[in-house]
Amino acid sequence: MKINSICCLGAGYVGGPTMAMIAAKCPDIQVTVADMNEGRIAAWNSDTLPVYEPGLDDVVASAIGKNLHFTTDIRGAIAKADLIFVSVGTPTKSYGIGAGRAADLRYIESAARLIAEISEGHKIIVEKSTIPVKTASAIKTILAANSTEHATFEVLSNPEFLAEGTAIEDLETPDRILIGGEITPTGNAAVEALASVYANWVPREKIITTNLWSSELSKLVANAFLAQRISSINSISALCEATGADVDEVARAIGHDSRIGPKFLKSSVGFGGSCFQKDVLNLVYLCDSFGLPHVAEYWRQVIHLNDWQRSRFVEKIVRTLFNTVNGKRIAILGFAFKKDTNDTRESPAIYVCRDLLGEQAKIALYDPQVSPEQIKQDLLEAGVPQHIIDTNLEIHTDPYSTVEGAHALATLTEWDEFKSLDLERIYNLMLKPAFVFDGRAVLPMDKLKAIGFDPFTIGKG
Ligand code: UDX
Ligand code: ADP
Repeated sequence: MKINSICCLGAGYVGGPTMAMIAAKCPDIQVTVADMNEGRIAAWNSDTLPVYEPGLDDVVASAIGKNLHFTTDIRGAIAKADLIFVSVGTPTKSYGIGAGRAADLRYIESAARLIAEISEGHKIIVEKSTIPVKTASAIKTILAANSTEHATFEVLSNPEFLAEGTAIEDLETPDRILIGGEITPTGNAAVEALASVYANWVPREKIITTNLWSSELSKLVANAFLAQRISSINSISALCEATGADVDEVARAIGHDSRIGPKFLKSSVGFGGSCFQKDVLNLVYLCDSFGLPHVAEYWRQVIHLNDWQRSRFVEKIVRTLFNTVNGKRIAILGFAFKKDTNDTRESPAIYVCRDLLGEQAKIALYDPQVSPEQIKQDLLEAGVPQHIIDTNLEIHTDPYSTVEGAHALATLTEWDEFKSLDLERIYNLMLKPAFVFDGRAVLPMDKLKAIGFDPFTIGKG
């Protein structure tokens, strides 16, 4: 089966960049990204894309209007597609059974119902969103029960492994492409059709095919293993602070063991992002549901440690500032969950700012990419009352005005530009003692000390 027309439901951080790359690499395939969010689609069709991602503008520009289209006409896009990626959000459920752990599949279900209603002929449906194991069988059931006799479907799992901030690099030269399908002649044909799309730029040996459930589970497990490494090194950061060891030196020493490897050993104020917490919680829920409480408990600790890492950072600030931050000005540099993205989902900065505001601190904040509206919305959703946001939060467009008159400075995102700040100028602008809490180890500790700061870096004794 040759794919001529692709549609993607969901123009988010995953759907947008992934489809832009497919369009750029496969000029013979028409790629349409459909979303009901009119503002988002308008932004994809403008010069200011809704997603900040290095290199994305060029990839989109190379294909948009030729074989890459962004539209709110979801029905039209489904009707003409041979292959449909489902890349809608799957947030953690906030209500009812499985609240706080299970994935909320309502967007997946409504997408499947719409596909069933509109489709004619044969279509391949590809799960791109991260979903719990066995979701493919739910999608299949919905499709079978709601489609006409003229429609046939094959459901595949093709999880996305791109990381934000490096999405274009990850899409261009992925470590692997994973495709799961049913082990039947039509299932195999669908897997091959999708593999042929990727084979336009990804070497065949990097395209791994598995059964559906292995593919669905592998996405959760990959993220759980990565999150576990961060929680592991963060647990050691506390021990380093207590003993006088340096967590970066420990990470370098153990990372040289080829069995351990050097990546994902950077201690931080905690991991954030739309995937890690959600996927680990999803795994925990899955284990509980399948009667495996020991396995669930094991993975739950990865989240507990991450929560603790964020709260112990706040506690460190409060204790150091003579046990009170009431009315004190704390300058925060960075709000995104990592550098090179404007995404703030589950960013540790949300929780650090919430708790500092709860301690009645005044916060001055600067992030090079996150909009003031997003910051305020995140804090409101995290439970900070509107009147506190209005009175105790200042958002700046310049790091130096942010630190003016501050009792303390905390770095919460590792933006490259923070590495070249004029530290002497910052010291002169701050109140003394000039406390620094480097939650990302981006500032040079020795230089800070030499200038006169009173610095703390996570994981350094
Ligand atoms: C992650 C996975 O890496 C990706 O494969 C998957 O498709 C989606 O989830 P993402 O969340 O975009 O990607 O970014 P990632 O680079 O994994 O960082 C996640 C969080 O961990 C960030 O808050 C980052 O700052 C933190 N982190 C990462 C650390 O604290 N230390 C590290 O060593 C690495
Ligand atoms: P991700 O990070 O996984 O890409 P996002 O939340 O950024 O997730 O994007 C998911 C997008 O999916 C949102 O823009 C939302 O409007 C869209 N969406 C949800 N349901 C549907 C649907 N049935 N059809 C099309 N788009 C949908």
